[in-house]
Parts: sequence; C-alpha cells; structure tokens
Amino acid sequence: MAKGAATAPQATPDMKLHEGLVPKDTLTITDNRTGKAYEVPITHDAIKAIDLRQIKVNPDDFGMMSFDPGFTNTAHCESSITYIDGDKGILRYRGYPIEQLAGKASFLEVSYLIMFGELPTKAHLAEWTNNIVHHTFLHENAKTFLDGFRYDAHPMGVFISTVAALSTFYPEANQIDDPVIRQHQIHRLIAKTPTIAAFAYRHMRGLPYAYPDNELSYAGNFLNMLFKTTEAKYKPNPVLEKALDVLFVLHADHEQNCSTAAMRGIGSSHVDPYSAMAGAAAALYGPLHGGANEQVLRMLREIGSVKAIPEYIKRVKSKEVRLMGFGHRVYKNYDPRAKIIKQIADEVFEVTGRNPLLDIALELERIALEDEYFVSHKLYPNVDFYSGIIYEAMQFPVEMYPVLFAIGRTPGWLAQWQEMLMHKLPITRPRQIFTGVETRDFVPMEKRK
Ligand code: CMC
Repeated sequence: MAKGAATAPQATPDMKLHEGLVPKDTLTITDNRTGKAYEVPITHDAIKAIDLRQIKVNPDDFGMMSFDPGFTNTAHCESSITYIDGDKGILRYRGYPIEQLAGKASFLEVSYLIMFGELPTKAHLAEWTNNIVHHTFLHENAKTFLDGFRYDAHPMGVFISTVAALSTFYPEANQIDDPVIRQHQIHRLIAKTPTIAAFAYRHMRGLPYAYPDNELSYAGNFLNMLFKTTEAKYKPNPVLEKALDVLFVLHADHEQNCSTAAMRGIGSSHVDPYSAMAGAAAALYGPLHGGANEQVLRMLREIGSVKAIPEYIKRVKSKEVRLMGFGHRVYKNYDPRAKIIKQIADEVFEVTGRNPLLDIALELERIALEDEYFVSHKLYPNVDFYSGIIYEAMQFPVEMYPVLFAIGRTPGWLAQWQEMLMHKLPITRPRQIFTGVETRDFVPMEKRK
C-alpha cells in the first residue's frame, strides 16, 4: 500500500481478525508488565507517539516513549510536497513523476510547482521568473567577506557561511509569520544561491567575480557567472545548460532527508530562513548526504582503473570503506534519479568528450549489481553516483559538487520550511533515553582518583 495513504479497514482473508471483531482504525497494545490494554487511533498507517505516553507501570512513571535513532521509522510531519516509494523506485513532486518533469519542465517551473502545489500557467511562470531574475545580485558588502576566505576555502563552507550572512542584510526576514515577507525571502534565496555558489568558485580560482546576466536562463546565468572570461556576452552551451537545469530538477526536493529535516528542525524555532537554510546546507555537506557526489569522484580516482575494482570491492565487503554513491535510506530498489542522470551523461559527453572515469563507474555498477553483498543489502547506485562524473566532464572541481546539490535543493528546503510554518508545528525537541549516572555528590579535586 502507498506509504501515507489513508487505510480503509476491510476484513481480508489474510487479516486473521478474531471472530466477531469489527475492524477499526485503532491499535490495541497490551503492556505485559501490567496486563493493561490500551487502544490508540491509527491515522495514515501511523500511531501518534504521544499516545504511548499513557502506558505506565505506576502513575508517577514518565510513560512509554518510542526509541528511533536516525528516525528510521518516525514521521515527523504531514507533507503534500514529495512522494517517494523506495521499494518501487518512485519519486513524485506534487503528484508528478520525476520522469515526466525532468527535461520537460524547467527548474524554475518545477520550483514553482514544489512551492505552490500546481504547475504554473504561462503568466505565473513569467511573474515567478521575473521575481527570481530580479534578485540575483548580491549586496556588494558580501564580496568583501567572501574575499576574507582563504584562497583554498572549500566552496561549500563559503556557501553555508554566505547564506547565513544574508540574514544580516535582510533583518525583516525574521518576520516569518508575514506571508509577503516570507515570499520575498524565498525569491531572494532561489535567486542568490547560484550567485553565491559562482562567487565561491571564482574566489577559489582567484578569478574576478562575474555578475549575473539576467537575460540568460537560470542555469545559463549560473554558467555565465562561473565561466565567463573576457567575452562581452557569455553564451552557454545549450546542451550543458539543459543538463544542469535537469540536474537541478532532480535535486529539487526529496521529502524528509537529513538536510530537509534540519531545515524544518531549525525553522521550527522560528529563526529567519537564511539561518535555517545555512543549517540545512551544512547537513547536506556531509559525505553521507550531499557530500557523497564529491566522495564518489575521489573514490573513482582512487580506484584508478577497471583492473583495480575487484580489490576495492573486497575492501567494501570487509567494511573497510563504503562504496560511495551506493545505497539509500529509502530507495531499496533503484534511485529513479540515477536512471535519468545516466541518460543525461551521454548527451553531456557528446559535447565534452567521454569522461574516462565512466568506464570505472560502469564496471563498478555492473559488478556491484551482481554481487551477493550488494544484492542482499539492497545497495544500488543513487543520485550521486553519476552526477559527479557529469560535473567533472563539465569542468567543475569536486569541491563544487555539494554546492551544485544545494542550489537544486533550495526550493525544496524553502517549500518544506513554509509548509512546516503553515502547519504550525511545535518546536523540534526530541526526547532521549538517559543512560548516564543518575546522581552523585561532587568530589573535590584532592579526593579524585
Ligand atoms: N557501501 C557498502 N555498504 C553499505 C553502503 C555502501 N555505500 N551503504 C550501506 N551499506 C551497508 C552497511 O554497511 C550496512 O551493512 P550491515 O547491515 O551488514 O551492517 C547496511 O548496508 C545498512 O547500512 P546503513 O548505513 O544502516 O543504511 P542507512 O539506510 O542508514 O544508510 C546511506 C543510507 C545513504 C547513508 C548509506 O547507504 C551510505 O552511507 N551510502 C554511501 C553514501 C552515499 O552515497 N550517500 C548519498 C545518498 S543519496 C543522496 C542523498 O539524498 O543524500
């Protein structure tokens, strides 16, 4: 059954209902410590964790909690933005399959869809695009502190810090209950992330910053700010421009992943969206999340040749290293984004020439998909496995890969943040199971052993 779908209770032969039991949307829990039974409501295949609190041995007990490190089976919100069925390899934004959006709708169109729930009309898209295009410039002061970073600063560190710093330029952004002010920050963030990313890249390369060209498309302008040199007007290669736009679409949202959960969690304290998004981007930076694409490239370079793959697979199986770009918390079949990226790769390589690392990647994938370890652990290539190879062919340094992911994920973070506010969710504050020393008396220094 679709995850999150409402359950209509119907007695089916395999439900094994007790005779005479009328099916209902509740769960009965018997506490074998006391013999007491509790009936808790089921909604969308879930029970409310707070309903467990009534389960106690003594009236003074705190009550039962659920224990779920890593939130592997805990829904922390209701959302109507993105749907994933990990077993079937399905990803949909607002009901539209990713395969139908990628290549057919532009990134700004998809951003609108994610944000507002419907595909834009021509007029809506024109207005939305206009709003984004007119916010692409960074305050000149931002360049001053960008200059303060060391020449070899990782662009993701620069990106995170600059996004956070934007809150100081727009102090009204903390009025998160005002929909007009909120919308203004959404335009600014979607518009300025490519500029920040490109400036971080130019800083790293020791190049002068190239200003936005608002006549170009979102992806085209980004390429302009990255790669423009002495030409009066930069003309992006249409194949690379399109490929980058599709890559942004593929990264636009992914329901409650680590960085989105961070965005919601930080945003639940009612801080401004710049500070919340800096936190989300920091979560993305990690090698187990959006930093994985960078690690894939480093791994492929370390493997170095097709010949060396079996030896590397041995190291993976002995758990010495992880096969980066493989595995996913939710997808246990195939990451649908990886399939689309593989197709884009061919188009990009026609322009850039074939990336020799592709041979290693293809062979790694072939072996891994046949190998018992990977099959039994349900490990398949994820979005990061092939995106890095495309980015390399497009001449992005590896350090830029997580930054590219962050540009694509920005509308998702913002839509999820806005939804969290609309749903008036309480501040994120998980519980813990305390396993430390309960209480003891202070020991003066001279008596400590
Ligand atoms: N290589 C080798 N073994 C793996 C891998 C891997 N990439 N991923 C998981 N496993 C094994 C792991 O050792 C464990 O084995 P066992 O049960 O024998 O101890 C089992 O599979 C389950 O692993 P887990 O870490 O508990 O799984 P998870 O669902 O918590 O982790 C993951 C998901 C994405 C963090 C993990 O698969 C991983 O580290 N992959 C490599 C990093 C990567 O490519 N991340 C990008 C994810 S897609 C982009 C995004 O949305 O962030």
